[in-house]
Amino acid sequence: MSEKTINVLLIEDNPGDARLIQEFLSEPGGAMFTLECVEQLSTGLNRLAEGGIDVILLDLGLPDSQGLDTFAKTHEQVRHVPIVVLTGLDDETMATQAMRAGAQDYLAKGQMDSNLLIRTMRYAIERKQSEEALRKSRDYLDRIVNGMNEGLVVINRNFIIKEVNDRFVKEYGSVREDIIGRTCYEITHKVSEPCSSSDHRCPVREVFNTGKPARVEHIHRDRSGGELIVELYAFPLLGEDGKIEHVIELSHNITERTRAEEEKRGLETQLIHAQKMQAIGTLAGGIAHDFNNLLSVIQGNVALILFDVDANQPHYRNLKRIEKQIQRGSKLTHQILAYARKEKHDVKPINLNELVAETSEAFGTTRKDTTIYRELTEDLYAIEADHGQIEQVLLNLYVNATHAMPGGGDLILKTMNVTHDDMKGKGYDPRPGNYVLLTVTDTGTGIDKETQGRIFDPFFTTKEMGRGTGLGLASVYGIVKGHAGYIDVDSEKGRGTTFSIYLPATEKKIKKSVEIAEPVIRGSGTILLVDDEEMVLETGAEVLKKLGYRVLEAKGGREALKIYSENNPIDLVILDVIMPDIGGGEAYDKMKEMNPNVKVLLSSGYSIDGEAKEILDRGCDAFIQKPFDIKELSKSVKQVLGKE
Ligand SMILES: Nc1ncnc2c1ncn2[C@@H]1O[C@H](COP(=O)(O)OP(=O)(O)OP(=O)(O)O)[C@@H](O)[C@H]1O
Ligand SMILES: [Mg+2]
Repeated sequence: MSEKTINVLLIEDNPGDARLIQEFLSEPGGAMFTLECVEQLSTGLNRLAEGGIDVILLDLGLPDSQGLDTFAKTHEQVRHVPIVVLTGLDDETMATQAMRAGAQDYLAKGQMDSNLLIRTMRYAIERKQSEEALRKSRDYLDRIVNGMNEGLVVINRNFIIKEVNDRFVKEYGSVREDIIGRTCYEITHKVSEPCSSSDHRCPVREVFNTGKPARVEHIHRDRSGGELIVELYAFPLLGEDGKIEHVIELSHNITERTRAEEEKRGLETQLIHAQKMQAIGTLAGGIAHDFNNLLSVIQGNVALILFDVDANQPHYRNLKRIEKQIQRGSKLTHQILAYARKEKHDVKPINLNELVAETSEAFGTTRKDTTIYRELTEDLYAIEADHGQIEQVLLNLYVNATHAMPGGGDLILKTMNVTHDDMKGKGYDPRPGNYVLLTVTDTGTGIDKETQGRIFDPFFTTKEMGRGTGLGLASVYGIVKGHAGYIDVDSEKGRGTTFSIYLPATEKKIKKSVEIAEPVIRGSGTILLVDDEEMVLETGAEVLKKLGYRVLEAKGGREALKIYSENNPIDLVILDVIMPDIGGGEAYDKMKEMNPNVKVLLSSGYSIDGEAKEILDRGCDAFIQKPFDIKELSKSVKQVLGKE
């Protein structure tokens, strides 16, 4: 102890005792002590509040306070100043009680001498100082342990929890007293046996067995049963004998991190999938386009021959068979083009309810063992869509549903109005706004999770050879995407399937239109047919001639412009969109400059990036998709020619 002055406060009402103490301290050994005396507890407490006192000599029997109460009040006021209690000769019990309550020492008044007094006070100060140092260091450790971001738990060989920090208590949502003394598996896993299986390693057991640290990931439960994904790091806590006495386990809550990683992984997979789909789409779309041209030539030629062949001639049936196969091929290329999103060409505001009702009624008449239920929301928002393509979506879904219910079942069709908010947690980030939701539910075989990841891939089918091409859902997907919509599937093996399709709503008004199927319509006038595919050109020209028209042919935009400027009048131009020299768009604009009233029927195997749509928007009269169907062609030509 340093030799600085020690300030003693004596709280004593007996002047004789006070004088005696004063005398003791004035002896040589007491030189470094200065003594202040007060007679009442209240004055003593006031003096203590001012500070600067190193040790208190306290008589318990004072005019304003008696017995242990005197000690308690003083101790309460100055916890860090040592107190030596002064007692009467026969007051041993009281002295011990005061010691228990925190007094540093006691002195019996009649037995005191200078040496004893001085030594007692010195020891009291020293003891108090080391007590304080210990308290501070314990406090410091407590703050470290409780300030940690990890849960900390000390566990013994029988899995009993001996110690926990605040974080652990908070994480498992309980109180400390309820945790200490219970087993770790009860508290963290809410089970009655310790973890034992190899895929659920118990780090505590491992540390006791090997003496080495162990790290595992576990799924714990908080008090309300919620999932806590934790990373556990367990290591030995050695006893004084150097043997493992306990295991310390640190648990780091990685629930949020794990969820975020899972979400990120999910998004990445989705992105890769979307890119793959796009690449396949481009490839398939390109093939389908060329294939379409081939088909159109074959179809045209068959149509030409059929013009001259009577039904009773021997080749008639073969030709009809070829025609039928062309139709099937054409249907296939349409599915691929729909998937590749190269086909959107006739977008109008429509009421999805009407389409669902019409298609499902017609479909229902052919499938007697399927019971169709419709729950179509009244006042459904309109959608801007291609009538034919949405019909294709519906039919593909109906057909798949019935295939999944070979013994019959229920097909439930629902429509409703929703907003992007209702689409949260779906894994895609919908553009804000109103949507129309269509759900198609069946009570069929269901689809397992692994298969679900592949069903929208083109050519993915689980059906036997010849039963399915695997293009149904791919084209559904392409069409929905082409309409800026979203699609997802919800299914479990053996529990049926629900497809949900979200299509953006439109404010535009629905116009009623009546379509009448017409036979081949003949006509007259001059038509300029423009196409870079020679075969399309030849066949197209022959078909048009058969229909009664005079036909001029151009192999490209440049030639078309030349012919157009040199021949008058040309009543109609049938113009291909994509050509190597001058494309349909430019050719159209130039012709319009020559003749503002030029009539143009645009033709294409598909519309790349809506190019056909742009030309149509610039005033072009109509659009026809290749391969030309003779009835369709005759009708379109007649319609455009009839336009004012
Ligand atoms: N409603 C459904 N219930 C159970 N499985 C389905 C359902 N719809 C689709 N599938 C599964 O998804 C696969 C792909 O469907 P998709 O419509 O693309 O092709 P497909 O029906 O096999 O052939 P396609 O439609 O070209 O004739 C199916 O083979 C089937 O395994
Ligand atoms: Mg199908």
